Amino acid sequence: MSQTPTTQRQYQLQRSGDAPAVLKLVEAPVRQPGNHEILVRVRAVSLNRRDVYVKLGHYPGPKPATLVPLSDGAGEVIATGSGVTRVRPGDRVAAIFFQQWLEGRPRPEYMASALGGGIDGMLSQYVTLNENGVVKLPASLSWEEAATLPCAGVTAWNALVTRGRTQPGDFVLLLGTGGVSITGLQLAHALGARPIVTSSSNEKLARARELGAFSAINYRDSPDWEQAVRAATGGAGVQQALEVGGKGTLPKTLACLGAGGHVALIGGLSSFGGEIPSGQLMGNNATASGIYVGSRADFEALLAFLEKHPIHPAIDQVFDFEKAAAAYDYLDSGALFGKVVIRL
Ligand SMILES: NC(=O)c1ccc[n+]([C@@H]2O[C@H](COP(=O)([O-])OP(=O)(O)OC[C@H]3O[C@@H](n4cnc5c(N)ncnc54)[C@H](OP(=O)(O)O)[C@@H]3O)[C@@H](O)[C@H]2O)c1
Repeated sequence: MSQTPTTQRQYQLQRSGDAPAVLKLVEAPVRQPGNHEILVRVRAVSLNRRDVYVKLGHYPGPKPATLVPLSDGAGEVIATGSGVTRVRPGDRVAAIFFQQWLEGRPRPEYMASALGGGIDGMLSQYVTLNENGVVKLPASLSWEEAATLPCAGVTAWNALVTRGRTQPGDFVLLLGTGGVSITGLQLAHALGARPIVTSSSNEKLARARELGAFSAINYRDSPDWEQAVRAATGGAGVQQALEVGGKGTLPKTLACLGAGGHVALIGGLSSFGGEIPSGQLMGNNATASGIYVGSRADFEALLAFLEKHPIHPAIDQVFDFEKAAAAYDYLDSGALFGKVVIRL
């Protein structure tokens, strides 16, 4: 085996009791790859809203005293353990969110395999993963672009395509201009659909139009924004909605849904929860899906689509590794449009 490093710099969330965790940069050992494992030199990672919840201790699941944060990262395979056949040194890869959900239906036990949640994540110079826990990247994606995809990209893909079966011409509702919504906008546009974006900022709405938004609505200026969404569809309503707002937005999102529409229940930016009116969905032949990221097969389907439709994920800011705390602050500031990346 070629020479591999034995120590590295790594971020850890260090937690004591119920208090928010503290982000610390530490020297840590590099674990050499064992049977069916690979060692990856991480080149870029991205943040999701979930990573803020994890740091605060507001995310469901275990809250270990020490956790390497972040689910999303891309890098180069630099060493492989015995028996590895899926990748080789030199391959460019991204990690999959649930290390054990490879394809098909999820199983409850897969949920504990989420990087940066149930197990150590990607904010580390090197990570040791099972060979099954990565996808190979197309040359068209930079490290930074690839690092935006494992959570937000796969979630948007699962919502729009795997579960939503979006068709050309469909109206697609996207709430706000964060990571899932802007990736969803870019994918919906590439699918030939008509994205309708809401935001609290006219400047962000202008940027959404540049990325292909068919209609752009300021939800702060128009508290009854569901009426503006309906009007933008000619009154018929949307065929797809990526519901990231949660309790505060769900009733309005459902009011936007047209006959035969699909709402993907994804997030809780206002707070998690909300009622599903069964009669309304039934009468409309509408579908509501709970979406929790997706499988490796979803990620591979997304990458195959991106090879044919060379979208460049909208990256707002790229931070240096030493400035990881500033990246968290930026994500939390409300200023972001699309994705926040850290380069290693
Ligand atoms: N189920 C899953 O698999 C999954 C996967 C990824 C994310 N999520 C969840 O989905 C949500 C979005 O995640 P994200 O990472 O995309 O978030 P993010 O990047 O942090 O998005 C933040 C943006 O959302 C908009 N926003 C905030 N509050 C809003 C509200 N009440 N109504 C409408 N828009 C609002 C704002 O856009 P403007 O500044 O334009 O107003 C804000 O800039 C989070 O709750 C996250 O936990 C779930």
